Amino acid sequence: METKKNTFAGGVGFILAAAGSAVGLGNLWAFPYKTSQNGGAAFVLLYIISVLVLGFVTMVCEIFIGRRAQANAVSAYKKVNKNLGWCGFLAVMLPVFIICYYSILGGWTLKYATHSFWGNAGMLESFSVNTPEVALFTGVFLLFSAFIIMGGVKNGIEKMSKILMPILFLLIVGIAGYSLTLGEGVRDGLRFFLQPDFSTIGPKQILVAMAQAFYSLSLGMGIMLSYGSYTGTHIDVKKSCMMICFFDTLVALLAGLAIFPAVAHFDPNLLGSSKGIALVFIILPDVFASLGTVGKIVSFLFFAMVCIAAVTSVVSLVEVVTQFIIQKFKVSRKFSGLGVVTFCFLVSIPIAWSLGHVAINGEMEHAFFGMDLLTFFDEVTNTLLMPMGALLACITVGWIIKPENALRELEASGSKMGGAVLQRVFCFMVRFVTPVLILFVELSGIKGELDAGQHAVVITALAFLAVCIGAYFMFLRNTNTGTNADEKLL
Ligand code: PHE
Repeated sequence: METKKNTFAGGVGFILAAAGSAVGLGNLWAFPYKTSQNGGAAFVLLYIISVLVLGFVTMVCEIFIGRRAQANAVSAYKKVNKNLGWCGFLAVMLPVFIICYYSILGGWTLKYATHSFWGNAGMLESFSVNTPEVALFTGVFLLFSAFIIMGGVKNGIEKMSKILMPILFLLIVGIAGYSLTLGEGVRDGLRFFLQPDFSTIGPKQILVAMAQAFYSLSLGMGIMLSYGSYTGTHIDVKKSCMMICFFDTLVALLAGLAIFPAVAHFDPNLLGSSKGIALVFIILPDVFASLGTVGKIVSFLFFAMVCIAAVTSVVSLVEVVTQFIIQKFKVSRKFSGLGVVTFCFLVSIPIAWSLGHVAINGEMEHAFFGMDLLTFFDEVTNTLLMPMGALLACITVGWIIKPENALRELEASGSKMGGAVLQRVFCFMVRFVTPVLILFVELSGIKGELDAGQHAVVITALAFLAVCIGAYFMFLRNTNTGTNADEKLL
């Protein structure tokens, strides 16, 4: 079969690429500590339900919107209705914000991986304030992502995913296996991570689980839309989404199995403090340091794995923006990819500075509305704008295209969407259950920010939304925003 330059060559490549986007710092770092803080196994259960009810349903919607249009997010929403194109523009602009801070952490993991043989213990305070060095690692990390993007969908993203994802999986299984055989403390670590404590489950935990599901599955922006647009009829959407959700959850669980037994074995006192940035960048390096030479090797493998996970996620973010620029402005992939990465690199420098000084070293006089810039951007995007993006995708399929039509269209294009009962459940979910739950996440996010006095976060998110809507109606609604076919013609 002839495969065009800018499509995935096969179903496995697509699943691995989408799973590559989904599996990232959210799985290896946020999921373990959120689980330990929010009720252990009881939280895992809530999380799995969120993945099925919110994640899976939203993912099908996003992939469907992209796949039927075979175009960037703006054109894809325009195809549904010309007045909806701003939803796509929001989905294209959001990743720009995220790349700027996510790649700093990617740079950190690169530093920790390459520095493993000299030992990383106690390094964070001094490394994080050395902005030129952080910028160097962030730059290398971004350049590597740009290099993959420049290869195109099939020869860049798909090839990279086929090589890196199996390596990542082997590494996490190997490290978890190693952790579980450490002996003393393993049980305590597992209990800390997984002991169900249903008494801790309340509305807050449900909210955390749902928000984590969105973030971890890379939903609420243009990613699944963009990757979906590069799939042809040879890809089964239902099966692919199930595999992506399964793989993402599996890696998150394995990360917990790798981290907590090791921490409990080496220093049980650290278990309670295993939160936030400290877990991966302070506590684990201490654990590795106490292991001698073996520790250096395990440290290298661990941080290389986290770095791989971060690269495959950043690549997906860069692709959303790159695809739009190529198709709207008819420029080459090289120009577009390098342009996006350079812009994000420049914006990342002040964020990196703020992260080191405020978040790590607590110099609050440099704070921005009481926080570091990374936390600020993270809250604007993750707490407020990502659920909004997901809600828009769900409403578009549930109420505008209509789920029955979507299922019919998917089946007609060769995707088996399950039996009559399953289809009816899906329609009901897309229309009523999922959007209501996402709205709950969104409103609780806004309320949480306002209660915490973070009006600036809410105002920034609303302003960002207003700018996207305004810019769309002024510059994009009545102009040609292109499709995937344009890239082939370049
Ligand atoms: N899903 C990624 C993770 O778990 C994060 C991410 C979010 C990547 C949004 C891209 C877009 O870390």
